[in-house]
Amino acid sequence: MRPRKEVFATAFIAETVDSYIGVIKKRDTKENLQIKWFTDVLAEYFHVCKPHPIINVQKERFLKVNPDFSIADNGREEEVSIPYFRNKASFSDISYEEFYKLTKQRRSVRWFLDRSVDRELIDKAILAAIQAPSACNRQPFEYHIIDDKELLKTAVALPMGTTGYAHSIQAFVVAVGNLDAYFDERDRHLIYIDASLANMSLMLALETLGLASCPINWPDIEDREQKMAEFLKLKPYQRPIMCIGIGYPDPDGMVAYSEKRPLEVIRKYK
Ligand SMILES: Cc1cc2nc3c(=O)[nH]c(=O)nc-3n(C[C@H](O)[C@H](O)[C@H](O)COP(=O)(O)O)c2cc1C
Repeated sequence: MRPRKEVFATAFIAETVDSYIGVIKKRDTKENLQIKWFTDVLAEYFHVCKPHPIINVQKERFLKVNPDFSIADNGREEEVSIPYFRNKASFSDISYEEFYKLTKQRRSVRWFLDRSVDRELIDKAILAAIQAPSACNRQPFEYHIIDDKELLKTAVALPMGTTGYAHSIQAFVVAVGNLDAYFDERDRHLIYIDASLANMSLMLALETLGLASCPINWPDIEDREQKMAEFLKLKPYQRPIMCIGIGYPDPDGMVAYSEKRPLEVIRKYK
């Protein structure tokens, strides 16, 4: 909103503070950055809003669980996790041409060297994937990775699309969606969208790290759902979304040529 209103969010600040207090009570060290973000955003909110009966009450509740906190001091020395202006100094210097080249470099590769994938590289690719947008930033997915040779034998056979090259896959990723991220049935498709956006970044990042990948369909077949759930010990609200086979590309293995539909066919201006 530009310019920012002097008073806003009065319809939901109470439930936001309820949720905040709930999170603070369950404080888990693993979630410190999320708590910091939640605290910083609320502190900034109380800092910028003019006095208002609804906001004043919630500000008191916020301060009660943060007794040492000074809202007037929101320009704290440490970096605060609040809205900011885009800073060109931190921009990537990748040109469109280089990016386009990367998108063409990424092709579904099914033949990999018989060489274990460095876990550090997979972590790097996932770090890039985590930057993807997701509805309400809920990131309702997890990556389950199988790189143990024995476990791989079972894992690569779980989806249907690996016939003929399953044995070549060196690391197998299962993107799993968390349906508990949304309270309404109407949003049940979001796990597929959000995970897929992240998966694309993951596959592009793998290419920058000298790895290649093949996305693999996860079929909606009850028997397979059950087998995957048992294999990964999934919770009842978790669903496999798709799998990705990863490895160091075998220079002697060929890549299937996939002709893409032309721009003029895909792009439609009104
Ligand atoms: C959701 C999805 C499911 C896929 N499933 C399989 C699969 O089961 N087996 C397979 O070998 N390739 C699979 N692929 C790879 C596609 O065949 C491939 O992306 C397509 O032919 C385009 O080729 P490219 O990835 O090289 O651009 C899948 C791709 C996507 C996006």
